[in-house]
Amino acid sequence: MPSSSKRKLVIGNWKMNPDSVEEAKRIIKEVKKAAGNLSKTDVVACPPFVFAHLVLGRSGSVALGAQDVFAEERGSYTGEVSALMLHDIGAEYVIIGHSERRAMGETDEMVARKVEAVVTAGLTAVVCVGEHVHDAQGAYLEPLKEQIKASLAKVTKKYVKKVVMAYEPIWAIGAKDAMDPAVVQEMMIFIRKVLSDMYGQGEVSSLPILYGGSVNFRNAGDILEKGDVDGFLVGRESVNPPGFVELLKVVDGGVARE
Ligand code: PGA
Repeated sequence: MPSSSKRKLVIGNWKMNPDSVEEAKRIIKEVKKAAGNLSKTDVVACPPFVFAHLVLGRSGSVALGAQDVFAEERGSYTGEVSALMLHDIGAEYVIIGHSERRAMGETDEMVARKVEAVVTAGLTAVVCVGEHVHDAQGAYLEPLKEQIKASLAKVTKKYVKKVVMAYEPIWAIGAKDAMDPAVVQEMMIFIRKVLSDMYGQGEVSSLPILYGGSVNFRNAGDILEKGDVDGFLVGRESVNPPGFVELLKVVDGGVARE
C-alpha cells in the first residue's frame, strides 16, 4: 500500500531540552499553533516528563508522548515512571529503545518488555531501531532484522496496531546530513518485509514507519517523496520552532523545498 495515502506522523523528541519551563512553553505554543493548521499530519511532542503537562491542555492539536517508560506496573522503582501513569495523565505515545537509551545499557529484552507494557496500557509504542554502520555489503541487514524481531518479541498480532516503527540509522542522528532518500526507501521496503513476515501483510499495512536522523525542513520533502516514509522522528529541529513549524508545513503539503 503506498504510504502517501496514509496520514503523516511527525514526532518531536525534545531529548533533555530546553532548560526552563518558560522556554518549553514558548516552544509548545508555537508547535500547537502550527499543528492546528495541518490537515493530513498528526503531531506528537515528547518533552522531558517535567514539561508533559504543557503539551496537554486546551488545544488538542499536539498529542503527548514520553521519551521512555519503565516496564514494571508499579512499586519500589525509584526514579521510574510507569505506562499506567503516562496513560492516566493523557499521554498517547512512548518512544522506546532510542539509540541514546540503548547506548546507556538498554537491551533488546528491556525494550521488548517496555513495548509490551506500553501497548497493553493502551498507549502507542514508538519503537526505535537502526544500524551503527551502513556498509556497502549490507552486513547491517540481518542484525537490523534481529533487532526488530527482538524489540517486538512480546507484541502479539492483537497489539501490532499500537506500534509505530522509527528507523533511525545511528550514524545519521545528530549528524550534518540525513540518509539519502533513495536508501531510506530501500530500508522502508526491508522493514515492511520483516514486519509482514512477522505479522502478515494485512496487519502491518497501516503500521506507520518513520525515518529519524537529522531531519529538517530542507530535507523533509525529499525524504517524504522519495523515501516512502510515513513521517519523521525529529530530534534537534523539534525544539527549534521556526524550523519545526516549516517542517510541519512541508510534511502536510507533501512538497519538497530547497
Ligand atoms: P536528530 O535526532 O533529529 O537531532 O538527528 C533524531 C533522534 O535522535 O530521534
